[in-house]
Amino acid sequence: METPAFIDSFYTKFISENEEVAKMFVNTDMKNQRTMLKNSLMILMTTSLDSAESQSHLEMIGKSHSRSNYNIKPELYDKWLNCLIESAKLHDEFFDLSSETA
Ligand code: HEM
Repeated sequence: METPAFIDSFYTKFISENEEVAKMFVNTDMKNQRTMLKNSLMILMTTSLDSAESQSHLEMIGKSHSRSNYNIKPELYDKWLNCLIESAKLHDEFFDLSSETA
């Protein structure tokens, strides 16, 4: 199934703006990656943040992205979030300050 255009825009932006990030995704199946991010965001949007589902999902992301695994630098999360917000802004006609805060 196709993922929403905003997820596509997100990875295009995230990868084209950061060479370090681009290197991390050279061998990645991006179709699969887009689906995984979509599913991840769906879990976080449809369950409350303190639910067991959100908590165990975030724990899984925390482990896979930690120093001993993908070794993602903390500052890359700000870039990740900015790209996600910019992409949502581009594709959601109802995007407003409350969407950005959320
Ligand atoms: C809270 C923010 C983030 C979420 C929700 C997220 C979500 C995901 C998910 C669901 C996966 C696939 C499952 C897994 O391997 O754990 C994944 C893989 C990955 N993520 Fe993230 N991610 C986030 C932040 C980042 C950041 C900041 C980077 C920096 C470049 C990054 C780089 C990667 C890489 C390199 C992979 C593995 C790709 C591969 O398998 O080849 N992620 N992410």
